[in-house]
Amino acid sequence: MNRPLRVILLLVIKYVHCRLWPKGVVHYAINKKDYDIHSQDVIISTFTQLQKEICVKFFNSPANYTASEQDKILYVNNPYKSKNCPPKHYDYSKAIVEMPIGYKCIDEKEISRIVVDMLRASIEPSDSPINSYDLIKKFQEKKEDHTRLSLLTPADRNYINAHYHFECGALSQRPGLTSQDFGASLHLTRANLEYYENKLWPLGIVMYGIEGQLRNKPMFAFLKHAMASIELSTCVLFQEDSSDDVLTPRNLVWFGSEGEDMPNLGFMTGNQTVRLESMSQGAPGHTAHALNMLTRVLGVPMMSNRFDRDNYVAINWKRVEKGKEHYLEKAPMSAWLQQIPYDFTSATHAPANYLCGSCTETSPYTVEPVQDHLWQKTLSMGHRTDLSDSDRHLINILYGRECQIRFLSKH
Ligand SMILES: *[C@@H]1O[C@H](CO)[C@@H](O)[C@H](O)[C@H]1NC(C)=O
Ligand SMILES: *[C@@H]1O[C@H](CO)[C@@H](O)[C@H](O)[C@H]1NC(C)=O
Repeated sequence: MNRPLRVILLLVIKYVHCRLWPKGVVHYAINKKDYDIHSQDVIISTFTQLQKEICVKFFNSPANYTASEQDKILYVNNPYKSKNCPPKHYDYSKAIVEMPIGYKCIDEKEISRIVVDMLRASIEPSDSPINSYDLIKKFQEKKEDHTRLSLLTPADRNYINAHYHFECGALSQRPGLTSQDFGASLHLTRANLEYYENKLWPLGIVMYGIEGQLRNKPMFAFLKHAMASIELSTCVLFQEDSSDDVLTPRNLVWFGSEGEDMPNLGFMTGNQTVRLESMSQGAPGHTAHALNMLTRVLGVPMMSNRFDRDNYVAINWKRVEKGKEHYLEKAPMSAWLQQIPYDFTSATHAPANYLCGSCTETSPYTVEPVQDHLWQKTLSMGHRTDLSDSDRHLINILYGRECQIRFLSKH
């Protein structure tokens, strides 16, 4: 009875795999009747330019190249003599993938946009035309457009390279870039060191205090539980400041009935007062909330704020609580440790309803995975009660030196 289903599944899997250009190579042909010599040159030189930014390669195919379903060919033409280049649906089920370029689009920028749409269509099993212009996000716009000399936005570049990583790798097995090597190199780059320098708590000890009347509240027990969970799997300690001497200058996080909603990202001098309630309770279902707040105290930016997160999640900015948008802004690239993979299961990954200001039953999400057909990621993000492997790994790498100093000073 299961047979037909299995066959369908296999077909689906195969279909999805076949969409990417095999080995990251696009064989193309240009219809010479549709474009003059100069236009052909512009198209070819744009392809060459793009090869410098993405791992996909473009090969001009000989006229007698026989395309098949496996060895597809990209056919650049303009059968209807169009001027413009509206978003288009790309059909990857055929041996020939048509990519029309209108006469008015014969320039590097426009051709790049069309190529990005074509490549995105090879990645995303979607039936609707994809217009990369729609994908430019609120916070990226300013930063990117002025400083860039390249043809692609960093977001497009990262997205394509991330999804073509394995296909491209099949062509050029570069030695020394295996995933094992990434895992083994524990050291931080200079950029990492600069980014985290002022965020780490000395000796890996977070000092905190608690308002007397809150000590016996379940909220505090909950927070202590999260602290214990971090202590058990990392070298970091949370230590209550019990000194009575008001004259000694102290750096601590104070949990009060009033105070900031969010702790500082990383170490801060002086008495930083945070509201206990907002430390321990987050959005409905966000069980990792307290862990996420404490890792924020440790100086760890959220996984879902990673500089390249647009490859993994989309933010519905309109639904984000007013005035809280900056908590969803991307961290700089220097915050990223190469050996840590993007991890939807991280305790620091935002839940789908994170900071949701105007969420309704029909549109309940602020943070949505880019591809999540069975809702697994959407439903599990932020819903854990301990650190993930990559969280542990990350915190131990960041605090390795501080903890070492602590251990050495004891003996
Ligand atoms: C295609 O044409 C080239 C010369 O233009 C020739 O060398 C090659 O053998 C041909 N290939 C096939 C498969 O016919
Ligand atoms: C920290 O500041 C809060 C008020 O914001 C105060 O109630 C508390 O006593 C202070 N804690 C210490 C240890 O100075």
